[in-house]
Amino acid sequence: MKGLVLAGGRGTRLRPLTYTMAKQLVPVANRPIIHYVMDQIAAVGIREVGVVIAPETGDQIQAALAENPWGLSFTFIVQDEPKGLAHAVMVARDYLGDEPFLMYLGDNLIGQSIESLVEEFRNSRPEALILLKPVEDPRMFGVAAVDGKGNVLRLVEKPKDPPSNLALVGIYLFSPAIHEAIGRIKPSFRGELEITDAIQELLDAGKRVRSHVLEGWWLDTGKKDDLLEANRVVLDELINRELSGEVDGESRIVGRVKVEVGARIERSTVRGPVVIGAGSVVRDAFIGPYTSVGRNCHIEGTALEHSVVLDGARLVNIERLEDSIIGRNAVVAGGKQNSKALRLMIGDDAEVNI
Ligand code: G1P
Repeated sequence: MKGLVLAGGRGTRLRPLTYTMAKQLVPVANRPIIHYVMDQIAAVGIREVGVVIAPETGDQIQAALAENPWGLSFTFIVQDEPKGLAHAVMVARDYLGDEPFLMYLGDNLIGQSIESLVEEFRNSRPEALILLKPVEDPRMFGVAAVDGKGNVLRLVEKPKDPPSNLALVGIYLFSPAIHEAIGRIKPSFRGELEITDAIQELLDAGKRVRSHVLEGWWLDTGKKDDLLEANRVVLDELINRELSGEVDGESRIVGRVKVEVGARIERSTVRGPVVIGAGSVVRDAFIGPYTSVGRNCHIEGTALEHSVVLDGARLVNIERLEDSIIGRNAVVAGGKQNSKALRLMIGDDAEVNI
């Protein structure tokens, strides 16, 4: 079985970060999301993975996978325009051949292994097996109606009137029958070839489509709050105390804190779960729970909590910063005396709440 990871798309919901960075590379607990995806794929024994990339961000995706600790064999496939998930499968048609495949959206994070899903697919050979999760507002997703035994009865993409609260998580298993089904669908209201419509097409042709309901958490990291939540959950579950950097005698490190090699903590308190990236300096600062600080950041005279700070950012003299995402090499400096004025240079589509 091959893997197909979709790592194209524009990532409009995470602007401005995604003006310069592919959405699949946004870090969660200091690792790009796509690395968690590859962890999952490698864990089920898949070795060959097609990665669908966009012309704008493809180089970044390739660079992020260059180290390849999983020992996977990657084939990069360019999708010229983001014309939908089913279109991405069409572009990968030659690569996939007539093998079954696992399709994984490169910006989806889930909190459990996909082993049982893959096992059922291998044993009972339905034409498609999809992963579902109950959500509060199903109108934002693909939605499935199922019977009591996990057989899928009907699927709709972004329904105004959802047939259930079960959203399609971006992880699918397909037999090669999906290619013909994709050949029969038309672009949706948003102008895309929807994989959801192609699976409905399988049902219309009388094929068997099965489903599993995900029991653990699922974070579709499409938006700022989702990303902060993903960071919180992953730090909570995966970070252990590991002080590989320098911590001076005047600092207090409480709980599960990972300080990477070459990072320095001076006269500061860090309360976990927190990760501080290699080469970063934290001075006279407080770093509170659920914070990820990237590499080569400088945080001084600042209290920071429940935030994601990307590589090279500088935060100086900020009384309190929380629930924030700070982009690469951004500078936030406060503390000018006798001045209530704000002095900002903010990138396009940035959001500032004072
Ligand atoms: C896509 C799929 C949708 C699925 C979702 C999961 O939506 O079309 O069926 O529920 O991914 O993340 P999109 O992110 O393109 O809006």
